[in-house]
Amino acid sequence: MAPPTTDLMLSIEDIKIAGSKKLPLMAREFYNSGSTTQITVTENTTAYNKYRLRPRVLVDVTNLNLTLSLFNQTLDFPLGLSPTGIQGMAHPTGELASSRASARRNIPMAVSSFTSYPVESVTQASRAINPIPHAMQLYTLRDRALQRQIIQRAESSGCKAIFLTADSPVLGVRYNEQRNDFRTPAGLSWPMMNVSSEKIQSQTHDAGFVATNSDAHSWAKEIPWLRSVTKMEIWIKGVLTAEDVLLAREYGCEGVIVSNHGGRQLDGVVATIDALPECVKAAEGKIRVHIDGGIRSGTDMFKALALGAECCWIGRPVLWGLAYNGEQGVTRVLDILYDEFKRCMQLTGCRTLADISPAVLAIIQADGRVAKL
Ligand SMILES: Cc1cc2nc3c(=O)[nH]c(=O)nc-3n(C[C@H](O)[C@H](O)[C@H](O)COP(=O)(O)O)c2cc1C
Repeated sequence: MAPPTTDLMLSIEDIKIAGSKKLPLMAREFYNSGSTTQITVTENTTAYNKYRLRPRVLVDVTNLNLTLSLFNQTLDFPLGLSPTGIQGMAHPTGELASSRASARRNIPMAVSSFTSYPVESVTQASRAINPIPHAMQLYTLRDRALQRQIIQRAESSGCKAIFLTADSPVLGVRYNEQRNDFRTPAGLSWPMMNVSSEKIQSQTHDAGFVATNSDAHSWAKEIPWLRSVTKMEIWIKGVLTAEDVLLAREYGCEGVIVSNHGGRQLDGVVATIDALPECVKAAEGKIRVHIDGGIRSGTDMFKALALGAECCWIGRPVLWGLAYNGEQGVTRVLDILYDEFKRCMQLTGCRTLADISPAVLAIIQADGRVAKL
């Protein structure tokens, strides 16, 4: 598609094009790519296209309620910012800008352990505008003391939840990082990880990951330990199967995020929208089920809610917004998604989130016929 000729950013695709153009090759490919053959990163988005909408008409849609209650707060609409590392590479204001834009739109934000700014500064940035809930993303680390320190810093700075990223015992294979010899640019650090700039520069992402992350993690080792060190909610990020939803329930987790790390871990795993129905079924309403991966429009959000997700999260659109125009760029991303989601509700005759049920969806079958769900 040709890049937009004016500064009019009408869609997430416009912002993707404009933001990507501003990034050097190494950063652009690091942000935009998935692992190996790019099947999952692509399918995360295209899988939404097999669904069509079944609108109801002549419904009074003057007064809609898009709000949801999460982490004991009322939020503007069912969207959050997924944790993405090194936002300072997209724009010097990085996570501070994302936090401020989230506050303006009154939605939650998850902070990566590889944030370019300390969690204290990220939570503080939004507080002056609107005290939105933040979650702290955590990997299972070899160094328990460091892991504990991250948790304590997050809790002291007001974070409401830990998002334990469970899909990364080792790093996915990312050809772009190898081809470009990806390194976090000089001048950017990882203030939550206690690692010097020199060390960051000296290691590839893969080598650093192996040195830091534990591949010996398990449900039994991680969840009871997390419970013993924090009062924050515990969510598992990276679940794709009913079996793992059942385990998350068994271990008393508050929520799961159906996620494949934006197609950056194992290429060939199912698109998240395709994994969602079995996860929702296994949850039986006993654990919160959220989703990320490939969500690029308010209609995608609407489809995910119709299939049972309580809330959607986005990764790359925020990075594109940052690269395009810092805080204003992220604000534009969030406003586009808000407006598209609201209009989709109006044009399908849904007045509340509870109205968004499987009845609003049809699926295109293999023979081309469209069927109700
Ligand atoms: C550049 C980049 C960095 C990421 N860093 C992290 C991370 O540090 N921790 C994590 O759990 N997920 C990370 N993710 C995955 C996101 O949290 C999220 O699952 C994914 O981006 C959602 O897909 P989307 O980008 O298609 O919206 C990262 C994703 C990207 C694109």
